Amino acid sequence: MYKKEQYYQKVITSLLNGMHFPEADYYRPQWHVSAPMGLLNDPNGLVHHKGNYHLFYQWNPFSCEHGIKAWGHMISKDLVSWKHLFPALIPEEEYESHGCYSGSAIVVNDQIKLFYTGNVKFKKGRTAYQCLALLNSDGSVQKLGSVISLPKGYTGHVRDPKVWRYGENYYVVLGAQDIHKQGKVIWYRSSDLENWIFLGELAGSRLNGFGDFGYMWECPDLFHLKGKDVLLFCPQGLTKQNECFANLFQAGYVIGKLNYQTNSYQHGAFQELDLGFDFYAPQTMEDEQGRRILIGWMGLPDENEAYHPTIKSGWIHQMTCPRVLTLNNGKLCQQPVDELKNLRSDKIESSSIAHDIPSFPMISSEMIVKGEANYQIKLSDVILIEVNNIGLILKRKNWRTHSWESRTWQGTLDELHVLIDRSSIELFINNSDAVLSSRFFSNKESANISFNGEAMIHLIYWKLSK
Ligand code: FRU
Repeated sequence: MYKKEQYYQKVITSLLNGMHFPEADYYRPQWHVSAPMGLLNDPNGLVHHKGNYHLFYQWNPFSCEHGIKAWGHMISKDLVSWKHLFPALIPEEEYESHGCYSGSAIVVNDQIKLFYTGNVKFKKGRTAYQCLALLNSDGSVQKLGSVISLPKGYTGHVRDPKVWRYGENYYVVLGAQDIHKQGKVIWYRSSDLENWIFLGELAGSRLNGFGDFGYMWECPDLFHLKGKDVLLFCPQGLTKQNECFANLFQAGYVIGKLNYQTNSYQHGAFQELDLGFDFYAPQTMEDEQGRRILIGWMGLPDENEAYHPTIKSGWIHQMTCPRVLTLNNGKLCQQPVDELKNLRSDKIESSSIAHDIPSFPMISSEMIVKGEANYQIKLSDVILIEVNNIGLILKRKNWRTHSWESRTWQGTLDELHVLIDRSSIELFINNSDAVLSSRFFSNKESANISFNGEAMIHLIYWKLSK
């Protein structure tokens, strides 16, 4: 636990000492969100209020390891240029002694209210409090303390409140683990955001048609889209099945119908949100234009984390680009927000056999590629995208093991939309049939994009500015 002044002094001292100067690092994204230093993980409290997008994030400013988390805070008018504000929540009370864990935001009577998990660890075990805080217009926060304590029947792993309003009431979903070590999403109702009634389990492992489906579910998010109720969540403990569930932990969704009278939720099968190497803990918001926007953590708490080369420059991880969600034929589709088009410059268009296309600078760029199967795109010597009769294979040279690893999407590829930002790549397939997000670390000197293969392709390339 910290005293506020002590905490800020420590942040400022680390900043003044440069923590090895993250900004000077070549791998630092030009336009994706990352923390000024230290470790960033989940996006939190996404909200659009009075023309400002607020993005809070799980932050350990003092090292590149997971530790006692605070909420970093950034704002933007356009989802492209972000400004850092003072950290919104720092762990200073008994009920959050081991971190202000993930949560969400809601606007009530023109004020932003924050919900988060007060994480408390003991010598043996842990507990969790779901807490409420008010964000003042000057960026300062007034904490109101715990409003939900640990329900009976669950271990200390209950966290990540996502709040919404329906009719006259507020609802919250929480990620949870029951005492039989099954992952669940539980939910509550309130008329005032302070007194909450437990409504039971909304979905979970061994529920509603799921068999064993993970020992813990994190970061749930529930929203209404095109007449359906979509539940996002991150199950831990699924076994890899062919090309599915290839990462250590998953992030995905089910589509269903929520019945507020019977407090029940009928849903379909689990689908993964992203097939790349690095994607976890996404959160969504509805913005003032009515768009449902998703931002995810382009990272995972996996065995590669400790080997990120950026650690020597004092920072680790970044967010994905903001993506607009739509529902089409039983599938959640993601498209980069249109605002990102403002970063485009130096357009080049070319139609030719893939191997005749010259190479382009990689640094921060965007491409739209259309063509027959049978071409390859190489980024430096660490990423290889193969488009063939099976679909698309994304190969990456792992920075820990130095061996190639792959992720596959199966289908007929008509259009590939690629966003590259120094050390990240996001692939959008067929106008959002699938997305693959991954980090990579190439040599600065060989940072270019080259093409190979016999297919005739049409390419549009842009540089992306800072
Ligand atoms: C997901 C998560 C959340 C938790 C937070 C802690 O990455 O484990 O469940 O609130 O990170 O930083």
